[in-house]
Amino acid sequence: MKQTTRTWLGVVALALVGVSLAAQSGTEVQSAVDAAYKKFQTLKEGKNADYIPALAKVDPNLFGIAVVTADGKVYTAGDVKTEVSIQSISKVFTMAQVIQEQGLESIEKQIGVDATGARFNSIIAVEAVRTVVGAGTPEMNPLVNPGAISATAMVRGATADEVWKKVIGFHNDAAGRPLSVLQDVYKSESDTNQRNQAIGALMLAYGYIKGNWQQAVDLYTRQCSIGVNAKDLATMAATLAFGGKNPVSGKPVLDAAKVPGVLAVMATAGLYDDSGKWLYHTGLPAKSGVGGGIIAVSPGKFGIAVVSPPLDDAGNSVRAQRAITAISNALGGNPYAARMIGS
Ligand code: DON
Repeated sequence: MKQTTRTWLGVVALALVGVSLAAQSGTEVQSAVDAAYKKFQTLKEGKNADYIPALAKVDPNLFGIAVVTADGKVYTAGDVKTEVSIQSISKVFTMAQVIQEQGLESIEKQIGVDATGARFNSIIAVEAVRTVVGAGTPEMNPLVNPGAISATAMVRGATADEVWKKVIGFHNDAAGRPLSVLQDVYKSESDTNQRNQAIGALMLAYGYIKGNWQQAVDLYTRQCSIGVNAKDLATMAATLAFGGKNPVSGKPVLDAAKVPGVLAVMATAGLYDDSGKWLYHTGLPAKSGVGGGIIAVSPGKFGIAVVSPPLDDAGNSVRAQRAITAISNALGGNPYAARMIGS
């Protein structure tokens, strides 16, 4: 055989190995997703959130899983079309938007990036840190309500409408489609958000919020009511997994250099007082919402989301935690699990 023919055969063989590896890993992802769906489909633990009346009415059997990989492929099981309210998962994207616009240090200086060790809407946590901004290091974070409402207040805009267009626009870019507010949830939450109004007023008193706290609480309530399905959430997670660029649409959303800061806050505070336990078992930066969604990020590998409304005592979806843990463990998603170079 001539040398050139041999070289070409080698190239073709290598290409075929490459194709089959890609196909094999795609099959591996789908099998992990299917196995978790089958395993947890009948799990009935947990209870829908009911402190917002509209959330109690959502079908507790809703269960959808989606994984998005670097090539923008989406692997799914179950119901990935029905929308739930994004709730606290929106806190990640509003924080990311402020970081994109005003830099990593803006959030650190104005809100803080410390885990509070308290429930998401704790008022004692605000009183406990009591740092008046400018008089010490703020010790909140943008993933619990006091910090999240303050982060929404930091988004720049001359009017509430201008701020809202930026907030929803950032969520749209991360999800790769135009999202809209679930009006029944927005109304239900607005009628019952007196606790968040108290937090907003306190944040003004302590200097975390500079302007109109009522507007910030209203826009925060609206951002929590954005409707998303498992596929939207997995795409949003994948945007954070792949350097801030949405791998399905190809659109850059957040500068790559700013992504690690966002993921660090998710790792320390994304599942509230259970964040440490979650990290111990998965190693994944993640964020839950009381609508039943959880997003998790395996940097450089995949973004994953599960929607299932029944929650545990900490306010995190039971099935979503189990399914994400199983899938990530099957795919080697834990960034703390070392893969030795050269061995
Ligand atoms: O602030 C609230 O009460 C809700 N809109 C969001 C809370 C939430 O999702 C906490 N999640 N685990």
